[in-house]
Amino acid sequence: MSLRDDFLAEIEVFLKATGMSATRFGREAVADPRLVFDLRSKGRAPSARLMDQVARFMAERGGTAVPAPAGVGGKGVLLVIGGGIAAYKSLDLIRRLSERGAAVTAVMTDAAQEFVTPLSVGALTASRVFTGLFDRDDEHDVGHIRLARAADVIVVAPATADLLAKMAGGHADDLATAILLAAGAPVLVAPAMNPKMWAHPATRRNVEALRRDGIHFVGPNAGEMAEAGEAGIGRMAEPHEILATAQRLLSPATRLLAGRHVIVTSGPTREPIDPVRYLANRSSGRQGHAIAAAAAAAGARVTLVSGPVALADPPMVTVVHVETARDMLAAVEAALPADVAVMAAAVADWRVAETAAAKIKKGGGAPPTLALSENPDILATIARRKASRPALVVGFAAETDDLIHNARDKLKAKGADWILANDVSAGSGVMGGEENTVHLISRDGVEDWPRLPKTEVAERLVGRIARALAPSGK
Ligand code: C5P
Repeated sequence: MSLRDDFLAEIEVFLKATGMSATRFGREAVADPRLVFDLRSKGRAPSARLMDQVARFMAERGGTAVPAPAGVGGKGVLLVIGGGIAAYKSLDLIRRLSERGAAVTAVMTDAAQEFVTPLSVGALTASRVFTGLFDRDDEHDVGHIRLARAADVIVVAPATADLLAKMAGGHADDLATAILLAAGAPVLVAPAMNPKMWAHPATRRNVEALRRDGIHFVGPNAGEMAEAGEAGIGRMAEPHEILATAQRLLSPATRLLAGRHVIVTSGPTREPIDPVRYLANRSSGRQGHAIAAAAAAAGARVTLVSGPVALADPPMVTVVHVETARDMLAAVEAALPADVAVMAAAVADWRVAETAAAKIKKGGGAPPTLALSENPDILATIARRKASRPALVVGFAAETDDLIHNARDKLKAKGADWILANDVSAGSGVMGGEENTVHLISRDGVEDWPRLPKTEVAERLVGRIARALAPSGK
């Protein structure tokens, strides 16, 4: 694959991640329209000037797929090949990884060997292919742990519905799953299955659980299936897409926030009525937790101040568990100073003015009236601090109508630098869901982001934060 193909592949990934149309990209990225022709013309390398111009454009737009300079060269990639028809594409993936200087070690499940042979995989990796958990030569030194530890990144391609289910359930009954359970390196999965299997509630649950565990996904894509006449979402991502995502996970860009302290609030708050009852809201904490995890993965020191949620504490994050808005504010203030504060919590606007010391009894009379008093606004309090105000204060605006207008007002009213506005109306599926459509509102204007998994919204936000904190950023 030539440099030109690689560059085109990166552009494709960028377009997919940003939702930008190819026409708009061409028009905006390239000042001289003749240069677009240069890109399209077969067999000719794009001019250095064009590549430069386009790369700069992608970087400015904060695309998640901005070419990673370091890539996979010199890195250890452990490729787990699952049993699906798409396994043949993993051969191409090995070739691409090896060409770029990665040391690829392959592990094949039993089912994978029905589709491609260890012989052909080994010929491409130029090393031994691992297939069994109880290999006499390997298990004496706990081979699966050694394999898991040696990798800089673990790529599962294709990841079948069964393999995802095993990963989500923490199974370890063969070499592939044992490695994945012992993994310390980032894990990237490229699912491939029939669209009905991908859409099945069981797979949905597993994917959601894996995302929460910090597993990275690439694809699946929409398109024709191997089964005649079937189409839909389930095709494995193309090898160049998997390569680009693996590169992103390995690139120094993922250490963008090294040396920074980021405070994130997440989840709902609980305001007690009496010892057994409380006021709260439907926030799951997914978006806030994903932001904390993404900031930590980018090398930041992260303090996550979380209300009660059903989520696991993200790895490598200091988590302060709180219940009420007042406790949340105190925890955020105690965590200062920080470079960035991202207030993603759905803080209760009011608390019960006087919490009853004993359970309020039903009695025969009229129902009790709850007098409410206003909670402190954590975002506004932090944004308006004179001393130790974080350089960047980011809030969320969950709105059900007049999204942008209300979010702009919120930016001013609270003194925040950015507001991420999202539509949480009943039909949007955002509250408690896996995906989010956000608009980044700053004094400079509005950036519309495509609908993305909350984990990707988090990664993109981290990229934007890193740019804003850079000396020439905004
Ligand atoms: O005013 P509203 O609740 O819509 O504002 C949402 C933003 O303000 C979110 O970033 C939320 O975390 C923050 N907020 C806060 N303290 C409050 C209310 C909201 O930090 N008491």
